[in-house]
Amino acid sequence: MQTILITGATDGLGRELALRLGTAGARVLVHGRDATRAERVRADIRAAGGPEPEILLADLGDLHAVDKLADSIDHELDVIVNNAGIGAGRPGATREVSADGIELRFAINYLAGYRLTRRLLPQLVPTGRVVNVASAGQQAIDFDDPMMERGWDGFAAYMRSKLAQIMFTVDLAAEQPGLTVNALHPATFMNTTMVTESGVTPTSTVAEGAAATMHLITAPGLPTGHYFNGLHAARANQQAYDPQARERLRTLSDTLISNAL
Ligand SMILES: NC(=O)c1ccc[n+]([C@@H]2O[C@H](COP(=O)([O-])OP(=O)(O)OC[C@H]3O[C@@H](n4cnc5c(N)ncnc54)[C@H](OP(=O)(O)O)[C@@H]3O)[C@@H](O)[C@H]2O)c1
Repeated sequence: MQTILITGATDGLGRELALRLGTAGARVLVHGRDATRAERVRADIRAAGGPEPEILLADLGDLHAVDKLADSIDHELDVIVNNAGIGAGRPGATREVSADGIELRFAINYLAGYRLTRRLLPQLVPTGRVVNVASAGQQAIDFDDPMMERGWDGFAAYMRSKLAQIMFTVDLAAEQPGLTVNALHPATFMNTTMVTESGVTPTSTVAEGAAATMHLITAPGLPTGHYFNGLHAARANQQAYDPQARERLRTLSDTLISNAL
């Protein structure tokens, strides 16, 4: 039986993945930040006859909580799906920071997954997978102002965090050649909370995004270190292929983490 950790499994795409994988017989580690919502997903998997899922609660906007989450997982893992995220925010939203003072979208969408995955690498099976749910919405990171203290905008902050996930994907795949590490854009404007909250009219379904993500979780013979747009390998923002930019991102990430912990 495969053991699969899905972050943000209490809503939208993550919830759908948890249901599909649990129903198909995987042991799902259902991560969320709200016990009631996570319990509902567990009940739905049970009702569908899946193996008993485990619930893991953590606010990913707090690096201490991310580390506690990593500490609480003692299973061998087959797949980590870094799915949890926040969108551009409500129209008129202003800049927010995490519990550690880090720009909130960078903290939740990227840095939490970076830290969690690195902490859990020893528990991944030698041929394990990491799936980073990123986006086609990508924007180059300005390393002179990576926390966006000037000219913050919710869509820009979101897009930078999503590119950071792809840069991490490229690095991790090169570091861990036995693993299959990929990032993807699941589908465009799925009908989920983050999309409707930002005032955008949905143009695709969660089922479409789930099919693309399931492909990276389960399809045999995948390449590693790639960005997929839906089902197909695609080219990400140029910054993802710039080794110096990736090194700056790694240094920034490790500095932010060591300052916070
Ligand atoms: N929707 C789209 O069209 C689209 C397109 C491209 C990429 N994506 C990516 O797909 C992924 C899933 O998005 P979605 O559309 O399914 O979003 P969603 O329905 O809003 O679900 C987001 C999930 O992340 C969790 N989450 C948010 N902040 C958290 C925090 N601080 N700590 C812990 N968990 C947190 C949420 O928990 P709660 O249930 O407690 O809120 C929820 O489970 C994201 O990475 C997103 O960037 C989405």
